Amino acid sequence: MSTRYAIILAAGKGTRMKSKLYKVLHPVCGKPMVQHVVDQVSKLNINEIVTIIGHGAEKVKEQLGNKSKYALQEEQLGTAHAVMQAKEILAGKEGVTIVVCGDTPLIKAETMEALFQHHEETNAKATILTANAEDPTGYGRIIRNTEGFVERIVEHKDATEEERTVKEINTGTYCFDNIALFEALQYVSNDNVQGEFYLPDVIEILKNQDNKVSAYQSKEFEETIGVNDRVALAEAERIMRKRINEFHMRNGVTIIDPLNTYIGPDVEIGQDTTIYPGSVIIGKTVIGTGCQIGPNSEIKDCQIAMNTVIRQSVAHSSIIGSYVNIGPFAHIRPDSNIHDEVKIGNFVEIKKTDFGKGSKASHLSYIGDAEVGSGVNIGCGSITVNYDGKNKYLTKIEDDVFIGCNSNLVAPVTIGRGAYIAAGSTITEDVPADALSVARARQVNKENYVEKLKLKK
Ligand code: UD1
Ligand code: CA
Repeated sequence: MSTRYAIILAAGKGTRMKSKLYKVLHPVCGKPMVQHVVDQVSKLNINEIVTIIGHGAEKVKEQLGNKSKYALQEEQLGTAHAVMQAKEILAGKEGVTIVVCGDTPLIKAETMEALFQHHEETNAKATILTANAEDPTGYGRIIRNTEGFVERIVEHKDATEEERTVKEINTGTYCFDNIALFEALQYVSNDNVQGEFYLPDVIEILKNQDNKVSAYQSKEFEETIGVNDRVALAEAERIMRKRINEFHMRNGVTIIDPLNTYIGPDVEIGQDTTIYPGSVIIGKTVIGTGCQIGPNSEIKDCQIAMNTVIRQSVAHSSIIGSYVNIGPFAHIRPDSNIHDEVKIGNFVEIKKTDFGKGSKASHLSYIGDAEVGSGVNIGCGSITVNYDGKNKYLTKIEDDVFIGCNSNLVAPVTIGRGAYIAAGSTITEDVPADALSVARARQVNKENYVEKLKLKK
């Protein structure tokens, strides 16, 4: 196998997106398009990945981090000009370079690997990944000679009526002999309808120099769609969603309604977990076996163990144990650690809280900046008063505490192990272990007082 390089084209503004967000940063299933491409390319044993950046350069760099090297294309003069910017990093190196557009988020590593293989087996100087499109409008067309060999690529805008009837399109992914690529780039001109330096022109240049160019046809067009506008973005989203959901279903996950279930590409889900409709599960979420998620739950960057139920709830950046029951209508905010066998019921908000094994907050509570031990029962309507308008303070509730309904725990405060808090208390001082704390006005019953009031009137 020869040394491999990759160039990812991501400098364009994406005018047709009509967006403030640079095109390649638009997410597909929650992940920016260019990140999809780089993640797939990264699976291919590539020596150096160079991403061409221009519009939104800093943002693209921030997104991709050190997964790639970068070359800046200050003015977007076309795809050939973009590739040329990688010259300083790649020119003169022996090997094969794959060029991929940052706006083709569905391209799979396997397909690119097959393209590399085909390129090497046929000993070509350039190999184009092509596909047959039912509606090829907008794509470059593959022009073959009478023997069926590729001659050149013509852009839609430059094509004659006859050329436009060709359904075989340029997917924008190619393998090149690296030396031949940079050599040929010098001869690309911008004498075309768009006044741009087209990378596809390299094919004709190499061909005219008697080099072998070949084409490898991708099995499905869907995988290679280029996203130039929001209609194509929605199409990419639909295809990616289907791909992701089918992957999980084949792995033993039940998805009740795959068309209405939104799972990110990096999510992991264990066997016999069921996902109900309307659920959005994204980021680096990992869900164990035997869980029930949804309907209508939103989960981002969470680690969830086994046999846990999360109904109609939101959970972000938190760890959730096994046999936990959350919802309906609960909100688990970042940095929470919900231990095994916990119950978080309706209208309960948990924030930055360690919530111990078997503890319960079944209804209408806010527990923030807290450490809750195991076996704790937090009564309906109880609240950690964690904020004085300036700073946040910790509430510690030790094991086996029982908090009566509608209590305020004014932090910083510690409720000792096994203590009871009477309903309606506002606790401002620490409560020792095993104590009963009552912090509310005593009840006064004024007998027959109503009658007196009425008489006064
Ligand atoms: C390109 C191909 C077309 C192919 C299609 C596949 C050219 C001239 N045409 O067309 O044959 O069918 O992709 O999707 O290559 N970019 C830069 N710098 C530039 C211009 C573009 O980095 O100066 C980047 C863009 O950010 C984008 C990619 O290159 O990620 C492709 O550019 P785009 O303008 O989308 O090309 P298409 O018109 O789709
Ligand atoms: Ca495109």
